Amino acid sequence: MRIAVVGSGYVGLVAGACFADLGHDVILVDNDHSKLTALRNGQVPIHEKFLPELLTRHRGNRLTFSDDLKEAVRLSAAIFVAVGTPPTESGEADLSYVESVAREISGGVEEYKVVVEKSTVPVYTSEWVRKIILRSGTDPDLFDVASNPEFLREGTAVTDFLFPDRIVIGCDSERSAAILREIYAPLTEGTYYRRSDAIPRPDRAMIPPPIIVTSSKSAELIKHASNAFLAMKISFINAVASVCESVGANVNQVVHGIGTDSRIGRRFLNPGIGYGGSCFPKDVMAFRAVARESGYDFRLLDEVMHINEDQRQRFLRKVRSALWTLRGKNLGVLGLAFKGGTDDIRESPAIFIVQALIQEGSKITAYDPAAMPRTQELIPSGLTFANSPYEAAHGADALLILTEWEEFANLDLNRLRQELKYPIIIDGRNLYDSEGMAAEGFSYYSVGRAASYPDGVPAALFKNGKKA
Ligand code: UGA
Repeated sequence: MRIAVVGSGYVGLVAGACFADLGHDVILVDNDHSKLTALRNGQVPIHEKFLPELLTRHRGNRLTFSDDLKEAVRLSAAIFVAVGTPPTESGEADLSYVESVAREISGGVEEYKVVVEKSTVPVYTSEWVRKIILRSGTDPDLFDVASNPEFLREGTAVTDFLFPDRIVIGCDSERSAAILREIYAPLTEGTYYRRSDAIPRPDRAMIPPPIIVTSSKSAELIKHASNAFLAMKISFINAVASVCESVGANVNQVVHGIGTDSRIGRRFLNPGIGYGGSCFPKDVMAFRAVARESGYDFRLLDEVMHINEDQRQRFLRKVRSALWTLRGKNLGVLGLAFKGGTDDIRESPAIFIVQALIQEGSKITAYDPAAMPRTQELIPSGLTFANSPYEAAHGADALLILTEWEEFANLDLNRLRQELKYPIIIDGRNLYDSEGMAAEGFSYYSVGRAASYPDGVPAALFKNGKKA
């Protein structure tokens, strides 16, 4: 099938490359010429596993790049809209890019097309897109608008696309549903998975994935409700972690105990310094705004956001309580990205914490496997970058772990201890076992678990004379 994908940002680029891998002919449309030139020249603008392979495989063949939206619409049976929907001041999604794309699409509709929302958009967007295309004079029989939300996580987006838990298509006509079913048939019928050149199957893959057909409004809500629910799970466990700290319980044990209930599930119950990124913060806020506008006061979501912000402050208090004053202290920081496996620092809790510590007068030396260039653009001075975790720890008063990169969970602890001025680790992602760290000679602070100290170290040295 011939498909146009509008917007070569994160979602559009991954979707375009994956549709090409399923065997479709894809035109990726963007009005940013420098982006198009970079893509045509083989550059990969985002840090995403398997994306370089897919782009190399299909660039110039099944995947072409264009700035001519009208022509791409004319040539395609389905047009996926994957342009940005940034938050406005009041937390709503700004849909002006979606609107202008909808208007332009109408110019290329000469025979039946399905226009598919792929960006995360609030409920009613498909109705608006339909109205805009109609207002531009398009024959109502020549198009349908559908919603096909994505559930891609940064870092594993290609795998998430090709091995999804489910495919949701929100269609208000059988004709549009048939086209979307056909597009995803290589996945739902399993032919993709039998190919020798398929992207490697992850653990826990649902093969073949189910396709869930709903109304377009339900599909729009499924996307917002999924992200809000996952954010709620994270805030819930962070709140439980705070109770654990007050009563001296261990949140990891609590997570194990509740997560093994299949109704609850273990995933997305990792406590830490809160969720960040370009999706959860924006989507929880947008869903809150959508609910308010529709007449429902979704206060639960306010609390989800509040707990998330508080989690960063709690971590800062933990740093202060471990080190007392922060002015002039040398701190090593591991992790700047909003999560492991990505170079993305948007709404990163790690960046928030680093900026707060700089403000308090600490000297930070940070290391991140991928996010240092972006951080340097954002914070051009006042922060030193290291070439390795050990260099970040060198001579530091304490080491802070702020992102859950896998490599940070497997550090050479002996070497780390030798590099640090004081063997103090404040771990915002619970990557290590508390007792084990004490046995390795560290004073170790984490989230939702009692601090642990090496044998023979008087607790009085650390927290107001009391063991934390
Ligand atoms: C999220 C969703 O997981 C995807 O399903 C969705 O498609 C995507 O948003 C989107 O709307 O585009 P993503 O933002 O890439 O994906 O990242 P996640 O892996 O969900 O992590 C989000 C944040 O939550 C990170 O800061 C992470 O560190 C934090 N997190 C995650 C926790 O603190 N604890 C956990 O247990 C899990």
